[in-house]
Amino acid sequence: MAETAKPLTMETIVSLCRRRGFVFPSSEIYGGLGSTYDYGHYGVLTKNNIRSLWFRAMVQERDDIVALDSAIILSPRVWEASGHVAGFTDPLVDCRTCKLRFRADQLEFEKCGRKPSKRPGETPDCDLTEARQFNLMFETRVGALQDESSAAYLRPETAQGIFINFKNVAQLARRKPPFGIAQFGKAFRNEITPGNFLFRVREFELMEVEYFVPPAEAPKWHEYWLEQRLAWHRGLGLRDSNLRLREHSAEERSHYSSATSDVEYLYPIGWQELEGVANRGEFDLTQHTQHSGTKLEWIDPDGNRYTPHVIEPAVSIERIFVALLCDAYDEEIVGDRERVVLRLHPQVAPVKAAILPLIPRDEGMATRARTLYEELRRHHIVEHDDSGQIGRRYRRQDEIGTPWAFTVDEQTLEDETVTVRDRDSLAQERLPIGGVRAWLDDALEQDWSSPRSG
Ligand code: GAP
Repeated sequence: MAETAKPLTMETIVSLCRRRGFVFPSSEIYGGLGSTYDYGHYGVLTKNNIRSLWFRAMVQERDDIVALDSAIILSPRVWEASGHVAGFTDPLVDCRTCKLRFRADQLEFEKCGRKPSKRPGETPDCDLTEARQFNLMFETRVGALQDESSAAYLRPETAQGIFINFKNVAQLARRKPPFGIAQFGKAFRNEITPGNFLFRVREFELMEVEYFVPPAEAPKWHEYWLEQRLAWHRGLGLRDSNLRLREHSAEERSHYSSATSDVEYLYPIGWQELEGVANRGEFDLTQHTQHSGTKLEWIDPDGNRYTPHVIEPAVSIERIFVALLCDAYDEEIVGDRERVVLRLHPQVAPVKAAILPLIPRDEGMATRARTLYEELRRHHIVEHDDSGQIGRRYRRQDEIGTPWAFTVDEQTLEDETVTVRDRDSLAQERLPIGGVRAWLDDALEQDWSSPRSG
C-alpha cells in the first residue's frame, strides 16, 4: 500500500460528502441559499453518533450533569438580559466598489470581490466603509401582530435556555454545585461571512454544558473542563498532532467571559476553534436575576446564599463533523488502484458493517447474507449490498468509513464461516457466522486510535 501525499483541501471533503450523500447544498433546485446545507442519510447517521457520544460522556456517564431541552424562541427579554441585543455583534465593513460585506476583524482571511487573489482593502479600487457593529441574531415575529411587541429572536446559543431554568433544575435535580445542565439543539447566527463548508454556517447544532460551581473553585473547574474536552476529542480519534489548546486574549473574549480557551483543530484552512471552554463567572445568573426579579442563586444547607460561577464547554456538531472527516480522509494505492478511505472511529462511522454475498445470484449465499443482515440490523446500523463486483462494493464502504465488511462466500456454504475485512489494514479473517454479532459488539466497544497517528 502506498500513501498518496496530497495536501487535503476543504473542496475534497465537500466533494466526498456530496458524492456519497453525507451533505447537500440546501435549496439546490432553487439555486441554493448560500452556506446552508442539508444532511443526507450518512450525514444524519454521523451526526447522531457525534451527538450521542457527547451525551454519553456529558450526561449518561456522569453523576453531576442533567439534561434540558429548552425552546428555541425565548422571551426577547432573555436576550436583553444576556447582553445579546446590545453586544452579540461583529464589526462589519462594506466595500462600495464590489458591494461585498466583510468582517472587519477578519479582513486578512477574506477575499476581495473583484480580485479574488487579493484581500479587501489591498487594491487601489477597494473602497471600504468604516466598521459598524452588526447584530448576528435572526429576528422573527411571534403571533399574528407585526408590531414591536411581537419581535423575537431565534436563539444564537442554547446556554440562555439553561440559565433561565436554573431554579427549576436546581430545585428538582437534587444536585448541589458543582453540577451541570447539558443541552443540545439548533442555534442560529446571521454570520456576515459564513463559509468553509460547515465550519461557519448560519444554522448549526450546538452542544453545551453550563457547569455551576462555587465561585472560588471556578479556575480549577475551567482547567478541568479544558482537559476533559481535549481528551474527549482525542477519544473520537482526532489525531493529537491536529489538536491544541489556545487561550483567548482579553480583546477576543465574548462580553460574558472572564476567561476562555479554545480546543483548536488544524482544519485545511489552518488552526481554528473547534470547541470553546469559557469561564462565564456569575454574569448570566446575575443578569437574569436583575432583569427578571427571580433570584437565581444557590442556598447551601447552612442558609448561605451565593451566585454560582459558570464554566461552559460549547461545541457545534458541524465543527466536529468537519474535523472528523478531515482527520479520517485518506487516499492510498492498493495494488494498482487508488482507494479513498475514511478512517473514522468505528463509533462515529455512519455504518458499522457491510454484509456482502460474494455471488448474489447464488441462493445459499444470498439467503445467509440476508439472514445475517436482518439479525445485525436489530442492534446496529449495517448495510446489505449485493450490487456490482465485490471490489467495488468494498470501495464504496471504504469511502463512507464502514469499519468492517462480512462476506458470505463459497466456504460459508461448507463450514458456516464468513470473512471479516478490516477497512484500515485490509486484513481478512474467518469467523463462524453465528459469532458475528458478538464479534461486532465487542469490536465496537474497543478503544480506537487512527492508524495514521504514528
Ligand atoms: N454559548 C457559548 C457560545 O455559543 P461560541 O464560541 O460563540 O460560544 C460555541 O460558540 C461553539 O459553537 C464554537 O466553539 C463552535 O464549535 C460552534 N460555532 C460557533 N459559531 C458557529 C457557526 N457559525 N457555524 C458552526 N459552528 C459554530
